[in-house]
Amino acid sequence: MLIELRDINFEYEDSVALKDITLSVEKGECIGLEGDNGSGKSTLLKLLNGLVFQSSGTYLFNGTKIDGKVLQDERFSKAFHQRIGYIFQNPDTQLFCGSVREEVEFGPRQMGLSEEEIRKRADDVIAMIGLEKLEERPPYHLSGGEKKKTAIACVLSMNPEILMIDEPMSGLDRKTREWMLGFLKAWKKAGKTLIIVTHDEKLLTEIADRVVTIGEDHRIV
Ligand SMILES: Nc1ncnc2c1ncn2[C@@H]1O[C@H](COP(=O)(O)OP(=O)(O)OP(=O)(O)O)[C@@H](O)[C@H]1O
Ligand SMILES: [Mg+2]
Repeated sequence: MLIELRDINFEYEDSVALKDITLSVEKGECIGLEGDNGSGKSTLLKLLNGLVFQSSGTYLFNGTKIDGKVLQDERFSKAFHQRIGYIFQNPDTQLFCGSVREEVEFGPRQMGLSEEEIRKRADDVIAMIGLEKLEERPPYHLSGGEKKKTAIACVLSMNPEILMIDEPMSGLDRKTREWMLGFLKAWKKAGKTLIIVTHDEKLLTEIADRVVTIGEDHRIV
């Protein structure tokens, strides 16, 4: 099993966000996560990405227990973060470089690749996502949809195995929604694992192998 959550609980200082979450994800599966605003979907993605840690319960990634301690190991942490591509609900919070190209090159540079390989990966991803015209633009001057595409390009440049994407369709026009659907379908067709948080019924029916609903009590329904 790729991902296994057993009886996970998580609370922010003053509020419960995840209650007794048990969930398994196999390699190559596409999971749709839905639920009311505030039910805990984004928190669950943060936890899966090791940005917050359970107060109780177990998270196994490929058989390894994920907690604050194991992620203090820099080598493990780097490899773990490289394997999971995570697109935040609000891409503003994940873009910080001076230009789209720098942004896309940031991950591969962190991975310690050669300058030649970094350039090649950025070229490939920029062409694949269609960001050529925006390469030199500062990400904070882009539109919402362009920012989302840039965030996707950044994640893809690290060649992850798993993609976790929070509200991929929100704020996108029809054309960009169609592009996004095509992109996600191609990802799935390549046999790669996908976890999508969305309120979009059409997207869930078209792509999810399994839909998981989180209720307002923060438990899986
Ligand atoms: N940084 C934070 N500090 C404190 N409480 C938080 C924080 N982030 C989220 N919460 C609370 O945790 C609960 C779950 O929030 P979360 O963002 O996971 O919900 P969500 O299902 O993604 O909602 P939405 O559909 O609106 O994006 C909510 O009650 C929210 O108010
Ligand atoms: Mg959310």
